[in-house]
Amino acid sequence: MAFTVSANFAISADGKISSDPQRPSGWTSSQDHKRLLELRRNADAIIVGRGTLCADNMSLTVPDQTPQPLRCVVSRKGNFNGNEKIFHSHGGDIHLLVTNAISCDFERDSVTLHFANLTDFIETLHRDHGVKHIHCEGGGMLLRALLDYDLLDTLHLTWAAHTLFGGTNAPTISGLDDGIFFSSRHFSLVEMIESGAEGELFLTYQRNDAAK
Ligand SMILES: NC(=O)c1ccc[n+]([C@@H]2O[C@H](COP(=O)([O-])OP(=O)(O)OC[C@H]3O[C@@H](n4cnc5c(N)ncnc54)[C@H](OP(=O)(O)O)[C@@H]3O)[C@@H](O)[C@H]2O)c1
Repeated sequence: MAFTVSANFAISADGKISSDPQRPSGWTSSQDHKRLLELRRNADAIIVGRGTLCADNMSLTVPDQTPQPLRCVVSRKGNFNGNEKIFHSHGGDIHLLVTNAISCDFERDSVTLHFANLTDFIETLHRDHGVKHIHCEGGGMLLRALLDYDLLDTLHLTWAAHTLFGGTNAPTISGLDDGIFFSSRHFSLVEMIESGAEGELFLTYQRNDAAK
């Protein structure tokens, strides 16, 4: 398939992305925020799970850029209430993927609803909307699905070892309790940038042997 999938996460010293799935993780530093926006600039579409959209109150926009990337959100049932920030901010077209229902009550002008599975949705973005680079900003449950389908090409990590989130309910980049991978996913380090004062490392890994 002629598209690439990347993801960006900040992880704590204990490998967590947040202290609780409902709680906003925020940016770990100003550099982390700057990098998040830079990575968005290279994307044709940004994709997040509904949990992250809500917890982090996201608009999924890129400052001072035209065109804006498509804004994609994944949900099982499509339980959006319309108050989410994304529906009240100017940005790229919004595409909502609903995986476990064949209809839902949510309707908004200029929002496209898709009833499909994740792989078919990504194919549709590529085929019908010219998307060549999809960038995932979380959360763990969504990345876990991308990893299960072995779709992730590039993983950007902010290694924020100045913080510990702790707790069994604190999610990791591969979700909470979805069992083991059929086989481990291996990546190679292609870039490492140190952010001195803020005590973080910015890492980029490339998938060694992606199935696609
Ligand atoms: N440190 C970081 O870089 C970073 C990045 C992102 C998020 N976070 C944090 O992570 C936490 C959220 O984590 P999370 O694992 O709950 O996030 P998530 O994947 O964004 O949200 C889970 C919800 O998204 C939908 N979803 C995700 N994957 C799906 C799939 N494959 N198919 C269908 N629906 C899917 C479901 O919504 P429905 O309930 O509607 O079915 C699910 O309940 C928050 O605290 C957030 O701040 C941190």
